[in-house]
Amino acid sequence: MLLSMELHPFGPDDVAALETWSAVTNAVSAADAPWNRRQTPALGAGRFRHGWDEEPDTPYLAVVEGRAVGWCAIGTSEYDNLDLAWLRVEVLPHERRKGHGTAMIEQLLSEVARLGRTSVGCEAWESAAADAFASRHGFERKLSSINRRQVLADVDWPRLDERYDAALPFARDYVLERWPVPTPEERLDALAEMASAINDAPIGDLDYEDEVFDATRMRAYETAMAGRGEQIHRIVARHRPSDDLAAQTVVTTTSADPTWGDQHDTSVVRAHRGHRLGLLLKVEMLRWLREAAPDLTTIDTWNAESNDHMIGVNEVLGYQVLGREWAYQRSLGDAQE
Ligand SMILES: CC(C)(COP(=O)(O)OP(=O)(O)OC[C@H]1O[C@@H](n2cnc3c(N)ncnc32)[C@H](O)[C@@H]1OP(=O)(O)O)[C@@H](O)C(=O)NCCC(=O)NCCS
Repeated sequence: MLLSMELHPFGPDDVAALETWSAVTNAVSAADAPWNRRQTPALGAGRFRHGWDEEPDTPYLAVVEGRAVGWCAIGTSEYDNLDLAWLRVEVLPHERRKGHGTAMIEQLLSEVARLGRTSVGCEAWESAAADAFASRHGFERKLSSINRRQVLADVDWPRLDERYDAALPFARDYVLERWPVPTPEERLDALAEMASAINDAPIGDLDYEDEVFDATRMRAYETAMAGRGEQIHRIVARHRPSDDLAAQTVVTTTSADPTWGDQHDTSVVRAHRGHRLGLLLKVEMLRWLREAAPDLTTIDTWNAESNDHMIGVNEVLGYQVLGREWAYQRSLGDAQE
């Protein structure tokens, strides 16, 4: 007989729930993706208070007979993709195949319907379990993304310097600049316009609208990162003749663990492609971090598996593959339950 499950929502101030959440998600990572960053209640508090840009997910502990058997979350945006909700579902390794994942997703789908969202996405590290579970619940594979990691001790600086020098002649009209954070108010619009170039990154078969970037959202991202104890390092390429922003790359470092870095967006505005700006920006970033974050040992990045150009740059930089994640999606109109 299936035991009844309660989903307990929790917030960033609920210390006991955050303790349980971090223990659960670390146990799941140990089984499915041991390279994942170890989570702590403090990291969880930042994540569930701020999210990526002040639209944090709503997390739940999945409780059966007083015990947490997993956790799950719903994320939505009010900027774009107003029909869509993203779900996360994680069941403790020793609690699997008992129907807990199903009990969670059924409750989450009801909540998604209540929110008026009609399209649902879900991400999972590649595994037979995730595939079978997703398919059992009417989801289809839509996008494969690869998580890579760069170990800074292994960076071949002389080779990178050579690649940088070889790329420079292609970018004579551009200058690289370290961007101030927080962004001065009057520069937010131009930053948002340039940042929207990320919409050209491949999204596989996902049914996903272009994301909307505006000054408010750029500021919200900076506020969220500051609230999470993350320092933003942003380098832009400026097109000298027009003074336009042509490209950017962003890496965050974290006060809680100065060894850990995360690559955020790298994007080149369409009109400025073909000038090796991706490579130049990323090498310049490494040079900056060498001085600004001397304790940094690794940087993680994510790319759609089909993003040959960005992956090519990352391979030059020495990034190594950690794992593949699938994004699944379904519409709520064709529920199987
Ligand atoms: C995927 C996951 C959530 C499944 O949770 P669970 O509690 O084991 O799932 P359920 O017991 O409700 O399984 C429901 C159905 O999914 C399928 N399924 C789940 N795990 C499976 C596995 N390892 N192999 C084959 N089928 C599997 C089966 O059809 C199963 O029904 P059955 O047990 O009657 O055959 C769990 O393995 C997990 O947390 N994995 C890591 C995170 C993740 O991948 N999340 C998926 C997001 S889409």
